[in-house]
Amino acid sequence: MSKRDFLSLLDCSPEELTHLIERARHLKVLQESGQSHRYLEGKTAAMILELSSTRTRVAFEVGLHQLGGHVLNLDSETSQLGRGEPIEDTAQVLSGMVDLVIIRTLDHSMVEAFANHATIPVINAMTSLLHPCQLLADIQTFEEHRGTIQGKTVAFVGDGYNMCHSYINAARQWGFHLKIACPQGYTPNPEILASTNNAELVDTPQEAVKNADLVVTDVWSSMGHEGQEGDRCAVFAPYQVNENLLAGARHDVLFMHCLPAHRGEEVNDTVLNDPRSVVYAEAHNRLHSQKALMEFLLTSA
Ligand code: CP
Repeated sequence: MSKRDFLSLLDCSPEELTHLIERARHLKVLQESGQSHRYLEGKTAAMILELSSTRTRVAFEVGLHQLGGHVLNLDSETSQLGRGEPIEDTAQVLSGMVDLVIIRTLDHSMVEAFANHATIPVINAMTSLLHPCQLLADIQTFEEHRGTIQGKTVAFVGDGYNMCHSYINAARQWGFHLKIACPQGYTPNPEILASTNNAELVDTPQEAVKNADLVVTDVWSSMGHEGQEGDRCAVFAPYQVNENLLAGARHDVLFMHCLPAHRGEEVNDTVLNDPRSVVYAEAHNRLHSQKALMEFLLTSA
């Protein structure tokens, strides 16, 4: 069987994604009840993070350790990547030494090129285009609290960037209705938006959250937008998720944010600390869902 990559949620079928979430929940039970689950004994992943990370890094490192494997951290400073060794050479060399490569970089085409030249699975740990690993944790978290997300209404309020793109792909794969509210000039990639009938742009944050089962936002200046913070804060101010906005959603709405959050900007303290906010459960599920993902890729390759 040929190797599988996870650069986008569209790399898996809806059935495979459902299986991944079920598996993540099972691995969580094993972990939390102290049962050994060293299903990836002896496996090694190389992790190349060209951007900062807390949740993604810890989830992959701790997760593979719990599964009996090992993560090797590579970065531009201490490897030949920083001295311009071509992606195709690095991909082929690592393919003979490790079992899996995990990459975070702004340039999505770099991850695609790496995957094309590697003979082992490659995981997108976030690019400027997509953040698919985050969506595994988000869907797991929603379903743990509210049951299936299929048929539900989700509001994405804020920047039409990598998290918004991944929510569009998720709406397509899991069959929920996504309403997106972004300021003019910050709307999502039109091709990604047009790829599904399950996502639509609406005019205001109030329209997006109306009857929503889940409200999601992300920082207004993501990695890659350094230096734009001042301008963006002014444009995005009406898009803050606060208690007034959330009041327009369903009474049992959940709030999610991939974190780190800029409190007082895209979301205020009241909402982050509200019982409807599940941001820490969401962060903790990065561990379980990324374990399920590594297991899936390393046992189906
Ligand atoms: N949400 C997320 O990807 O967190 P990190 O940037 O800390 O990995």
